[in-house]
Amino acid sequence: MHNKYQSTLKYVRISGQDNIAESVFSEQRLTYSIRRIVKEDLEQVNEIDCEAFPTQWPPPNYRQELQNKIAHYVIASDDTRTITFPAKPPKNRFDLTKWLTPWNRRQSPPTANSAAPITRQYIVGFSGLWMMADEAHVTNLAVRREYRGKGLGELLLLASIDLATELKANFMTLEVRASNLIAQSLYRKYGFVHMGVRRGYYLDNHEDAIIMSTDSISSESFQSLIKELREALKEKLA
Ligand SMILES: CC(C)(COP(=O)(O)OP(=O)(O)OC[C@H]1O[C@@H](n2cnc3c(N)ncnc32)[C@H](O)[C@@H]1OP(=O)(O)O)[C@@H](O)C(=O)NCCC(=O)NCCS
Repeated sequence: MHNKYQSTLKYVRISGQDNIAESVFSEQRLTYSIRRIVKEDLEQVNEIDCEAFPTQWPPPNYRQELQNKIAHYVIASDDTRTITFPAKPPKNRFDLTKWLTPWNRRQSPPTANSAAPITRQYIVGFSGLWMMADEAHVTNLAVRREYRGKGLGELLLLASIDLATELKANFMTLEVRASNLIAQSLYRKYGFVHMGVRRGYYLDNHEDAIIMSTDSISSESFQSLIKELREALKEKLA
């Protein structure tokens, strides 16, 4: 589209199958993309969750969320980086023949590092929502600490809004800790308003939850807010 600029920043709209619908152009060699979560992401997602919500107990079971029909999670990756996981030792399955073989004829187990190390995309944040009737409830949103303040929280929230629109939600809701002013400011920016309080909602410190909700996400006013924010975010991420 624009030959002066390198097409390096992908904003990936989520569709039923696969994905890229829109790209923005940046002179910087920074690339973030958004896609739906897969099971190979769970290790990094758990790590980001622990960093973002250290006191939450019990921690969310994201493996279970993959099977949850109403759950829709996306991740953001920094495509200029990868992460390598060391080889895992093979699973030590119970082998009946071992117990039927005399000691002196048993073979030594396979070496621990027989599988190769695995390199994956570097995940910098994730967000999730639950679709309940016409309501898209934001369950999680977190960005790695080293990546905060760069617009990735916005990118993930925007992806969730796009996803909710695609799933034909009428409005979006969430709960946020009363003390989490940063997240509240992000949500307010994207049209969420204070609807009420759940007293002592959080189990770890009995903190109140602020309930926030959008107007109808198909309304003209919401759509025009999102259009404006999307344009501004392209500038911010460029
Ligand atoms: C909340 C969170 C996802 C924001 O992500 P982020 O990538 O740092 O945010 P962005 O850079 O996209 O900033 C978007 C908006 O968030 C708010 N915000 C971000 N950092 C802020 C700060 N330090 N102080 C005040 N507001 C801030 C602002 O409204 C900002 O918009 P602006 O740049 O126009 O002022 C991130 O701080 C995080 O992961 N926190 C821990 C987990 C968490 O609290 N999740 C929310 C659970 S409900």
